[in-house]
Amino acid sequence: MNIKDRVAIVTGSATGIGRRTALRLAREGAKVVIADIDIAGANKVADEIKGLGHEAIALKVDVTSLDEANQMAKTTLDKFGQIDILANIAGGAIPGKIGPFSQSVKEVWDRIIGLNLYGTFTCSRAVINHMIERRSGKIVNVASVAGIVGQANTADYAAAKGGIIAFTKSLAKEVAQYGINVNCVSPAFTGTERVLSMPEEFLQKQIKMIHLGRYGKPEEIANVIVFLASDEASFVTGANYVVDGGITLSY
Ligand SMILES: NC(=O)c1ccc[n+]([C@@H]2O[C@H](COP(=O)([O-])OP(=O)(O)OC[C@H]3O[C@@H](n4cnc5c(N)ncnc54)[C@H](O)[C@@H]3O)[C@@H](O)[C@H]2O)c1
Repeated sequence: MNIKDRVAIVTGSATGIGRRTALRLAREGAKVVIADIDIAGANKVADEIKGLGHEAIALKVDVTSLDEANQMAKTTLDKFGQIDILANIAGGAIPGKIGPFSQSVKEVWDRIIGLNLYGTFTCSRAVINHMIERRSGKIVNVASVAGIVGQANTADYAAAKGGIIAFTKSLAKEVAQYGINVNCVSPAFTGTERVLSMPEEFLQKQIKMIHLGRYGKPEEIANVIVFLASDEASFVTGANYVVDGGITLSY
């Protein structure tokens, strides 16, 4: 894919879909910033990429903080001189805090909206003026099928992910005039390390809903994120790519 020598920030890339996205971007020739709250994990991924002969740095970033997102952009510019790609992947629900809306508490909503929706805002805000000045850039956000069809017992997460889809379309409309593409990927159940550690009975129940009869591999989500970050997707903006093995066909 046409990505060689591009500078890419990937949030949430110490593990899971983010790590596979960072590795794929590096293999395509990009210089990658591994931005994660887990700096030990981020360092490992950066070392893995460097071991393969590509360029990468690890940064400790809490995406819920606009100050830290701004610092991430500044450090990237100091190191690489430009930012071509931002993949907003950090996100998720909070294990142990899943349950009916009737029992929900504001503190958990704040955390979920903070990580998923506000975290997408902070990092996008931190890079957007640089991209506007350069008249180019690609932002790829990660939502979820929960943001399209809803998800019982995680209304907070579904609401945040639905917000990311609306944010993607709105920002795409605003910045298309500057040659910036903003797109979104909505995965369904993906076999990341975190997901595969869930109880087997629960996992089997989920698989039954997926037409392809299996989980997505994190690499299969990364493939679509990297495509949207590449020049091959130059005429795609404001799109929400559903990568779900057909799960939403049933809704
Ligand atoms: N795995 C799935 O089944 C699935 C399905 C739909 C959507 N998604 C979405 O895809 C994205 C990646 O999912 P995953 O399963 O790979 O997640 P994961 O839990 O495996 O990895 C998330 C990464 O984000 C980092 N992170 C958490 N909070 C952070 C913060 N405040 N600042 C910076 N980094 C932070 C973690 O340290 C971790 O490295 C998430 O946005 C998730 O909501 C995942």
